[in-house]
This record gives sequence, C-alpha cells and structure tokens, in this order.
Amino acid sequence: MKNKNLMRDAALIGISILVITMLHYFTISSKWDIHDFYRRLYYIPIIISAFKFRLKGGVMTSLVISALYAPHLVLYFGKIDIAILNQFFEIIMFFVVGTITGFLVESDFRKKMMLEFQIRKLTDLENYTQNILDSITNVLLAVDKDLKIRSINKEGRRLFNLDDRCIGSGMEELFIQYDQIEKILKEVITYNKKVVNIETKCNSSDGKTIFVKLLAYPLRNIVNKVEGIVIVLEDISEIRKLESQIRRAEKLSAVGQLASGVAHEIRNPMGIIKTISQTICQETQDEDIKEGLDIIIHEINRANSVVKALLDFAKPEVHQVKLQSIDKLIRDIVRITKKYAQQHNVRIKYHSEEDTNILLDSEKIKQAFINIIFNSVQAMPQGGTLNINLEFKEGWVHISFIDTGKGISKDKLDKIFDPFYTTKDTGTGLGLAITHRIIEEHKGHIEVQSEIEKGTTIGIYLPVIQEKGDSND
Ligand SMILES: Nc1ncnc2c1ncn2[C@@H]1O[C@H](COP(=O)(O)OP(=O)(O)O)[C@@H](O)[C@H]1O
Ligand SMILES: [Mg+2]
Repeated sequence: MKNKNLMRDAALIGISILVITMLHYFTISSKWDIHDFYRRLYYIPIIISAFKFRLKGGVMTSLVISALYAPHLVLYFGKIDIAILNQFFEIIMFFVVGTITGFLVESDFRKKMMLEFQIRKLTDLENYTQNILDSITNVLLAVDKDLKIRSINKEGRRLFNLDDRCIGSGMEELFIQYDQIEKILKEVITYNKKVVNIETKCNSSDGKTIFVKLLAYPLRNIVNKVEGIVIVLEDISEIRKLESQIRRAEKLSAVGQLASGVAHEIRNPMGIIKTISQTICQETQDEDIKEGLDIIIHEINRANSVVKALLDFAKPEVHQVKLQSIDKLIRDIVRITKKYAQQHNVRIKYHSEEDTNILLDSEKIKQAFINIIFNSVQAMPQGGTLNINLEFKEGWVHISFIDTGKGISKDKLDKIFDPFYTTKDTGTGLGLAITHRIIEEHKGHIEVQSEIEKGTTIGIYLPVIQEKGDSND
C-alpha cells in the first residue's frame, strides 16, 4: 500500500516535470516573459519531491530538472550573456531549495522515527510486563496507600469477575474477613515491611469461598517512599480440599477398623438385653417396671441403628455393579422414602429429563440417596418440598436434591462428610460419610451448595459408564 502510494507520487512528480519542461521547449522565445513563470513552476515538483522523498528526493529532482532545463537555454539563446547567466543561476536556486527543504523534512522525519521507535519500545515493554503478569496463575494486585485498586492481572480479573471499573475502588468485596486484611495491609504501609503466608478466604465470582495465601509487599517509588502495596494471592483451595480428603480418609479407615471390631461385640449383648427386656415387659404387671423397660428397648433400638450404620460403614466394598436404568432406580428410592417424607409433611417431587443405563451397585446407591433424602427431610421440620432432578451433562449423570430447609453455614460445609459430625440430638453423623464413600467408589463426586434458612442443594455426579472395564481401574 505504502509502496503503491510512493510510486504514484513519483509518477505525478515525473509527469509535472515533463509537462513544465515541454512548456519550456515548445514556447517560442519571443514570449520570453512567460518562460520566467514556467521556470518558477519547477519549484513545485522540487518542493513536493522533497516532502515526499526527503533529502534524496529534493536533490535528485533538482538535479533532473537542471539537466532538463539547462539545454533549452543554450538552444534558445545561442549565446551566453548576462540574461542567460541569470537563468543559469536559477539552477543553483533549484539545488538550494531542494536541499534545504529536503534537509528540513529529513530531520523532521528522523525525529518522528526516533519517537515512533521509543513509543514502540515502551509499548513492547508494557506488553511484555503485562504478558508476564497475565501469565502468572496467581492473583496480582497493586493498590495505593488508601488500599484502592490500581491494577489487577488477568487471573485476578477472572477469579473475581472484575473489569476496568474496579480500578480506584476498594477491596471490601474480595475478602471475607476484610477487616483483618485491612489491618495487616495498613501495617505493611506504616512499617514499610512485607508480610507473607497469611491464610484467608476470598469470595470468588461464582459465589464460592476460596482459600488463599496472601503475600503483600510495599510498593516503593524511586526515592524509596512507600506508594502502595503489591498483593499476591495464591489459591490454596485445592490443597485444602486434598488435606481434608486425606484427613477424612484417615478417619474413615480408623473408624472402619474400630467399627467392625466393636459393633459385633456390642450387638450380641444388646440383642440379649433386648430379648430379656421384652420378655420381662410382657410378663410383669408393674407399670413402673414396664415404663423403664420400654425406655431400655427404645434406647437399645437406637443403639442398634448406630451399630448398623457402623457396620454398613465398615462393610467391605461389594462390587455388585450391574447395568441399570438410573431413572428407575431413583423412582424406587422415591417410593421407599415417600412415606417417611409424608410423615414429616415433606413432598418429594422428582423430575427427569431422559434416562440411560449405567453401571451401578444399586443397593449402595440406594443407601447413599436415602441418607441424603433423610437429611433433607430432617432439615425441614416445618415440612416443605424436596425436589429431585435428574440431568445429563457431558458424560455425567447429575442428580440434584434441592430442599428448602434450614441450610448449612459456610464454616460447617466441609465438615458434613466427616464421620461422627452431626448437629442432631439423635444423629450418628455417619450418613453423609457413608454416602461420600459410596459415591467415590462409583468414581463420582458430590457438590454441596447451601444458604442458611434458604435450603441446601446436594449434587451427585456419576460417570456414565456403560460397560465393565470402561472405568479407569
Ligand atoms: N440437607 C441438609 N440440610 C441441612 N443440614 C444438613 C443437610 N444434610 C446434612 N446436613 C448436616 O450435616 C450433618 C451430617 O449429616 P449426616 O452425616 O447424615 O449425619 P446425621 O444425619 O446423623 O446428623 C447433619 O447433622 C446436618 O447438620
Ligand atoms: Mg443423616
């Protein structure tokens, strides 16, 4: 494009020189006065050429023009007198104008090039720095002395769903315990000292709580005065999750061993106590004794259910997997639990999009889902609705249990799968631990979302595996 323009300019200059030259050669010398005018016309291509092609253009054009112009002087006048000399001197003027204009344009051009080069260098440097900052998978924030955001890298924008409008605003929304963080950051500015490895929690854009490790460095200017803070946030949620998984697994195996040992030993004496109590209860006439024995029997039943849960928990993995309809299995489970729900004024509504056959241990999945349904019903003491939805998502079966119960507070969320964690007077705290284990055995995973007084959604994801050996093990 640029080359094409230059060619066009050169052609136009060439043509104008030719036209002017022809005017010189074909105008008879009697009209001499008009030659003065033509001669001055030559300055136009010289100046244009100097502007377009700089020093080189100015000099070259005046050279070409002189070469074309000079012979016609000799041709027309035949002799050299003072008038002719005067005309020849004009040639010097061509050179002077071409050179000076060319020179001025050239030095202007050089300055422009220099400036462009500097700008390019600066932009490159800025892009390079920005690329480095954006390639870092940690969040990088720069804030001023008032803790207002000055810049944030790509990862930070992504994690907190921020755009340029966040520049100049505070960070209250980002941190869950902002007061505490604010205090730490103010100290960084006051004492001009870095802080490292502060563990805290942030609100991510998708509403999740993320655990982060915070590092803060004072941002100093050229004269070493603190101007703000550079904050680095490292997402340690995954590490936290792994840690808690390991802790849970350790607990589970300890519980499992203990459970199978103790449960058998306890079940037998309890069976005996229960049978004898029932016999005495039937035979005695004493109402006080009857009442006492009823309590004993009731408590033994409760203890038995704990022992049963413990044994379920410790039961070795049974892989009675069979290809079966997930929709039918959920319908069965809803049928089994309907009565229990009705007794507690809870309606179960089941909705499925479509159906598929997947490999499952149906007894275990039943147990897992019943535990979830019971918890939901128990979370709605005033009654309510439990929605169960079956959906399909890219190779996964997604079953969600949505209740409108009391909800679970954020700090309790990661405890509910721990064995023996319960908030109920008569709870065992084993329901969800068992459920978790069963879902893991099926290579699935569980997601929990909950809001206090609004309700809880438990999402179960099971892989759509339709043939034995399809799984990774
Ligand atoms: N749908 C739910 N709504 C509110 N809290 C729940 C829900 N599901 C589980 N929880 C909480 O998780 C805890 C652990 O559940 P679980 O392991 O089944 O033990 P348990 O039901 O014996 O208490 C419960 O005590 C309860 O606090
Ligand atoms: Mg339970």
